[in-house]
Amino acid sequence: MRQDLERVLLTRDEIAARIEELGRSIVKDLGSVSESDGIVLVPIMTGSITFIADLMRQLPLRVRIGLITASSYAGTSMESSGDVVLSDAQFPVELEGRHVLIVDDILDSGGTIRRVRAEIEARSPRSVRTCVLLRKKITSALETPCEYVGFDIENEFVVGYGLDFDDYYRNLPDIGVLRSDVVEAARASADE
Ligand code: IMP
Ligand code: MG
Repeated sequence: MRQDLERVLLTRDEIAARIEELGRSIVKDLGSVSESDGIVLVPIMTGSITFIADLMRQLPLRVRIGLITASSYAGTSMESSGDVVLSDAQFPVELEGRHVLIVDDILDSGGTIRRVRAEIEARSPRSVRTCVLLRKKITSALETPCEYVGFDIENEFVVGYGLDFDDYYRNLPDIGVLRSDVVEAARASADE
């Protein structure tokens, strides 16, 4: 696990401190939201599983959660397929007239956020905002509308804190970059 990382990019303490700040900004911007209104959080699984757990505890509001599942990376791929698959039975929580906050782990090609945002906007919410923990410094990500960004990072593949490689490493408390020999070994065994 930890020994598979070439280096740590963000420690659990750095992540925790930033999430407190994000929570404060979100609450401040929703200042006029009455207690009875509350907000609906829409975390995109599975990558935002850790982030949503920490972020929602920084939001002293009336909160409902309508989690959805999307995936654009397949297996040991490190490139978004660009093909975002939304599973059935999405959006179980009523969104009409609600303040909605989409929550995702990382903004990469932007395909996932754009697609989810369009689906939510079609359901007549009062407002839609997006919060991501990480954003890659690439044009497609920077051009995707997103109100809250935890950290802007270089364009490299990262794991930990919910982010996976072939569905592993999500449980690492820190975020880091994998050693290239680990990636190659995983690819070689996937090809067998
Ligand atoms: P997008 O649709 O290309 O913006 O991709 C977003 C999704 O791809 C994220 O929610 C992640 O699940 C996954 N993803 C993008 N970059 C990384 C990465 O560096 N590590 C792990 N997963 C990633
Ligand atoms: Mg994801």
